[in-house]
Amino acid sequence: MCDTPEVEGAESSWVPEWPAWWQRGVVYQIYPRSFFDASGDGIGDLAGIGEKADYLAWLGIDAVWLSPIYPTPDVDLGYDIADYLDVDPRFGTLEEFDAMLAALHERDIRAILDLVPNHTSDQHPWFIESRSGPGSPRHDWYVWRESRPDGSPPNNWESHFGGSAWTYAQPPGRWYLHSFAPGQPDLNWENPEVREALQDVMRFWLDRGVDGFRVDVLWLLGKDPGFADNPPNPDWHEGLPPRFRLLRTNSEGWPTSHERARLLRSVIDEYPERLMIGEVVLPPDRAVTYHGEHLDEAHMPHNFVLTELQEWSADAIRSAVEAYERLLPPGAWPNWLLGDHDFPRIASRLGPERMRLAHMLLLTLRGTPTWYYGDELGLPDASFRPGLLTLVDPPAAATPERDRLIIRTPMQWSPGPHAGFSEAEPWLPLASDDPTFTVERQRDDPDSTLTFVRFLLDLRGQTPALSVGTFRSLSAPPDVFSFQRDHPDGTVQVHLNFGDEPREVVVSQASRILLSTAGPTAPNGQEMDRVALGPYEGVIIGEPGRP
Ligand code: GLC
Repeated sequence: MCDTPEVEGAESSWVPEWPAWWQRGVVYQIYPRSFFDASGDGIGDLAGIGEKADYLAWLGIDAVWLSPIYPTPDVDLGYDIADYLDVDPRFGTLEEFDAMLAALHERDIRAILDLVPNHTSDQHPWFIESRSGPGSPRHDWYVWRESRPDGSPPNNWESHFGGSAWTYAQPPGRWYLHSFAPGQPDLNWENPEVREALQDVMRFWLDRGVDGFRVDVLWLLGKDPGFADNPPNPDWHEGLPPRFRLLRTNSEGWPTSHERARLLRSVIDEYPERLMIGEVVLPPDRAVTYHGEHLDEAHMPHNFVLTELQEWSADAIRSAVEAYERLLPPGAWPNWLLGDHDFPRIASRLGPERMRLAHMLLLTLRGTPTWYYGDELGLPDASFRPGLLTLVDPPAAATPERDRLIIRTPMQWSPGPHAGFSEAEPWLPLASDDPTFTVERQRDDPDSTLTFVRFLLDLRGQTPALSVGTFRSLSAPPDVFSFQRDHPDGTVQVHLNFGDEPREVVVSQASRILLSTAGPTAPNGQEMDRVALGPYEGVIIGEPGRP
């Protein structure tokens, strides 16, 4: 099938000899308080995830990543942890955690947890002890500094949520560092006791059977120990948000971040078949360095290339994908994602007409996709009535357009009260009251987004070329991104038309459509030498007789 069209562009020409489960698989992100409420208090919980394990197995995903489940005062909705070794009572108990894990494992679904090692809650007993003063054995577990001579904060570092990254605390009469909200003090990673404590946290959960971690803000673990000011950003200009005025070269991404990534990975490697994903929100050339020089840091740093694309065109996507492939260190395995709990949902970003194309792209690129719950229904971002919520997402306090609650709304299971998410009023309103956005309405509808995504996941699962095959771009007509995935077991091609005009792609005679975004009405199974693509249509084609 590879003779036409002519092949050009980037090529990633290796197939893992013994692919790990996470290289073959698809990771599904669950925001636990919004998945399913088994206890009836309006907040999703662990028992609820266990109850929906059959759904996850039916959907065809391989692993779940749970956003934080630990006790939290909710300054940053769970990313401010008050106890690393327990479950927030609203989500359940450790016993319910074990039962949920067993329900997932029985169905061959792995579970990875969010690990937040850069900071805790200011309610964590470690911080309470630390702020009691320099006499406390844990004082040095957090980052405390004196004022500058004029009484101002120790340096110009800024919080990712806006304002200074320092808050003055009395006692002990010093400033503490918080890269996020003041309720999220940064741990002092220069202190070996802190490093050991976090390694023990990992062992606690790995011993319980979790299959790995997604490490929150991994690149923030290393900071300039001299606390030099951050330099001005030479590219900043009027019109850009003030938070981009400084470069963050000293407050994060310091070379010690890599040392710390290796330390966390060494704990992962004490256990068989565990996975470490690292959140690294840096330009791709720097993000890929978190695979480690010897592939001994994160198995996969998150890859935000598709979330940050300004232009959603075939050319832009193709160059971004090729560039990322070229940047990967030899032997490194990429991750791809369209969004997570921090980014607008794909359906709202691209509009319903281009959403399936994006799903097809995500699930056919070389690498492990991470999928955001609810995207399989095409859920949009919510638009809450002003004043409806009492909760405030910290970055939205200063910049309302940075509100991330609109993407964390309850999963929609069935038409009827609260979309079957809970018997009580949910903690957040639904994204949509339209009953079409429910699993029940979509699961038996051959034309639904859910059916399409399920077919796509199923095809990926059955087709080694799609999950672990090599990648190379193909030449293609304007607006079309075409690529080929090869594996000793077979070859597939993917042709994605990002334009609003129909296009035609010439293929070799011996091929047939395995799946089209246009749904089951496409000429599935028929052999052809050219493929007509409608506006925003994507197809996966394969050799006849073999997927
Ligand atoms: C990460 C999380 C985000 C959180 C922040 C602080 O970026 O993805 O949700 O607010 O870290 O923990």
